[in-house]
Amino acid sequence: MDDIRQLTAAIFSKYQNDPVPIDRWLRKVDGNILYIKDKGVLMYHDRELKNDNGKKSTHIWLCGVVSQYRLQGVARAMLRSMLRNKCQPLVSAHVNRKKFPEMVACLEQLGFKTVPLVLDRSADGKHLEKALERFEIDTEVLRTRLANLMKK
Ligand SMILES: CC(C)(COP(=O)(O)OP(=O)(O)OC[C@H]1O[C@@H](n2cnc3c(N)ncnc32)[C@H](O)[C@@H]1OP(=O)(O)O)[C@@H](O)C(=O)NCCC(=O)NCCS
Repeated sequence: MDDIRQLTAAIFSKYQNDPVPIDRWLRKVDGNILYIKDKGVLMYHDRELKNDNGKKSTHIWLCGVVSQYRLQGVARAMLRSMLRNKCQPLVSAHVNRKKFPEMVACLEQLGFKTVPLVLDRSADGKHLEKALERFEIDTEVLRTRLANLMKK
């Protein structure tokens, strides 16, 4: 667990005024954490939005790679590992484009599309953030895309 704490602090401290709320994040994702030691971390959980017509997604809660290891396929490798586990029909992420432009570039490059996001106030409570955009992709499409990138 220390590895994960160190990684999240190294990657996300610069985006936060307060210390990284790692305990809250860990509760949120209930053990769905993948990491590559000293390089990157991915936390995800199953999620269903009220306005999603029952389409469930495996939701990327957080993905981060230490700056010196970026653009070397670390995020891709972690997503590939995630898809080896049981996943929902969609993969989604809610991202603030201004705050996390690299994540937007990464998701768009991998084929995610933006769709309207209406957050469920009761589920998302006080952490509701107006600037979030929803990115999603069919899980099988992402799996194929990542597999094809491996072959290159
Ligand atoms: C976003 C982030 C996780 C991407 O990690 P990464 O390991 O560099 O991504 P990868 O090397 O696996 O790249 C995956 C694809 O996205 C593309 N990509 C990633 N970052 C990109 C960028 N900044 N600009 C353009 N394309 C980018 C890569 O070219 C690659 O495309 P390809 O599959 O066609 O080769 C990393 O930049 C990061 O941690 N940023 C800061 C934290 C953050 O924004 N987290 C998101 C909030 S949850």
